[in-house]
Amino acid sequence: MGRISIPLKFLGVFTLTMLLTAGAFMTTLSSLRTYTARHEAGAVADQVIAFRTWVAQTGMVWVQKLVPGYHDFLTQENAADGGNFYGKNPALATRELSMIANKEATRAIFRVTSDDYRHEDNMPDGFETSAIRAFREDKQLEFVERYEDGTYRYARPILVQLECLKCHGDPEDAPPSVIEKYGAEKAFGYKVGEVRGIVSVSLPAVGGREVIRSLINPWTVFFVLVIFVINLLFIHSVVIRLVRLTRSAEAIAAGKLETELIYTNPSESNDELDHLYHATNLLKRSLIILFKRLDQQGRR
Ligand code: HEC
Repeated sequence: MGRISIPLKFLGVFTLTMLLTAGAFMTTLSSLRTYTARHEAGAVADQVIAFRTWVAQTGMVWVQKLVPGYHDFLTQENAADGGNFYGKNPALATRELSMIANKEATRAIFRVTSDDYRHEDNMPDGFETSAIRAFREDKQLEFVERYEDGTYRYARPILVQLECLKCHGDPEDAPPSVIEKYGAEKAFGYKVGEVRGIVSVSLPAVGGREVIRSLINPWTVFFVLVIFVINLLFIHSVVIRLVRLTRSAEAIAAGKLETELIYTNPSESNDELDHLYHATNLLKRSLIILFKRLDQQGRR
């Protein structure tokens, strides 16, 4: 360190400061991106839950037409005109909603899934399985999130309520249509309050590359340069004054006592360098007085 000049030391400190600032900024950006993703995914989950609740409250959605791709139904009733009505229970209706929504989706895709699933399409993947386990272990847990290959994943639990028991409690109580279609094994034996499944939402994640790209834009570079120049000018002005003082002090030491030190008087200045100039000036005056005395003594 001894051989390094002040401007070089400054450069080191400046670079380090900038890097640390960039690090702090990146951390903030990264938690901001998770915060935003969590809110977006949460809003999607709210919609799904609202839709499910609506179907659950009305009991069943009855449709008159089974369109290709959406031909599942739980029960069937004859309509007055000789046609049929098809009943879709909440989970089924939600599954079809997610199929339609995910086909058109530009951002969020969602589904309802469970580790004890009745329909193949509701089979959970790795993240979903571990989320279900987490909700089962911790009843207070409100959501689970994770980044996975450029995707933000989010899950919220679906708990069993009293009205769910008809189809997820004792198989004896279940409507024959459920037993007929899904058998008496799958997704039965639940109690109120237990985790039945999850709403699972996926969003494209803002990657580290986007974060870095947002940092290296012309404006950021411009601001860093301006900050750097301002700092450099300041350091330069300090160093210039230090060099001037050193030269003057050297001249005084060499006997040139008439050397003039230009500075602002400490009574008007709070600048440490001015104080140093002032002290050196006092030293110079003491020297002059001392030399005069020595001179007089020599003459006696
Ligand atoms: C009318 C019977 C019925 C009722 C009442 C019912 N469910 Fe279901 N549930 C089903 C059927 C049938 C499926 C399979 C749907 C499918 O094919 O996707 C299912 C599936 C599910 C699934 C998706 C996982 C799977 O098994 O494939 C969840 C989660 C679920 N139900 C939760 C609930 C909750 C929570 C309630 C109470 C609010 C509830 N269900 C009430 C019949 C019912």
